[in-house]
Amino acid sequence: MSDVADWWTTSIIDMEPGRIDLRGTPIQDLIGTLGFAEMIWFMVRGDRPSPAQLKLFEAALVAAVDHGPQAPSIATARMAVTCGLPLNNAMASAVNMLGDIHGGAGEQAVTLYQFVNAHPSAVGPALDDWITAQGKILPGFGHRFHTPTDPRAPRLMHLVDEAIEAGACVGRYKSVAHDIEEELARRKGKPVPMNIDGATAVIYAELGFDAPLARGLFCLSRSVGILAHAWEQTQQGGRNKGPTPPNYRWTYRPNGT
Ligand SMILES: CC(C)(COP(=O)(O)OP(=O)(O)OC[C@H]1O[C@@H](n2cnc3c(N)ncnc32)[C@H](O)[C@@H]1OP(=O)(O)O)[C@@H](O)C(=O)NCCC(=O)NCCS
Repeated sequence: MSDVADWWTTSIIDMEPGRIDLRGTPIQDLIGTLGFAEMIWFMVRGDRPSPAQLKLFEAALVAAVDHGPQAPSIATARMAVTCGLPLNNAMASAVNMLGDIHGGAGEQAVTLYQFVNAHPSAVGPALDDWITAQGKILPGFGHRFHTPTDPRAPRLMHLVDEAIEAGACVGRYKSVAHDIEEELARRKGKPVPMNIDGATAVIYAELGFDAPLARGLFCLSRSVGILAHAWEQTQQGGRNKGPTPPNYRWTYRPNGT
């Protein structure tokens, strides 16, 4: 039987009739004891955060929940509902919009911070090397709407400062991200502000999460807003709503120019 049992191996859960242990702890000891954010940390990493780490982690999760129907993920949730999809399909469709450019850039931003941090030279040459390999758009910076400042970023960086004081992290990646933001502004001649992906990436890097988890955690966070919008649209009704009101058309260019 072991070849069958070993088909899946996990250190996350052990179970038999009447017993459910998560990461070695009976579920009944977790229910009513752990908050949801702490449960996410515990499930993903297997250890428990300190109170100061948990406060910072939860702040990152709270910050990214919603960005309104202009955000492709939220618009998708609402459109999906008007197409007759139930909440689970609307949520899955919306999470599928989170990619390298919208909501998923945290993964690359953590990688960028680690790259600059490990680079033997100053931030300028480090960015030159990154750009040569990865292209000129730096993940985690820039915003179509919030210029010159995305209000979420300074608040989150303030909470990183508090976490440093509380010994929850050392601030290395906050410092790297700050240097990148300054260098980028210098090169462009105007602010290209740290965005929500860049700010939450600082926190996830400071707390020791691997880069791909920055994207996974963003998906969890944004799922809250996605659910809220999908449910609101469900209550409002509306049928087959496209991305713009029907009186508006796209631009037709027969020559493709
Ligand atoms: C979000 C984003 C698409 C907005 O781009 P945008 O609307 O073109 O931004 P702006 O019009 O303010 O760009 C101003 C200038 O800064 C540049 N710029 C913008 N974001 C940049 C970035 N992250 N890295 C380097 N340069 C950037 C633009 O290329 C433009 O340069 P130009 O004037 O020489 O053409 C873009 O910043 C981006 O792709 N960022 C990285 C991905 C990311 O972090 N996504 C999460 C968004 S919440």
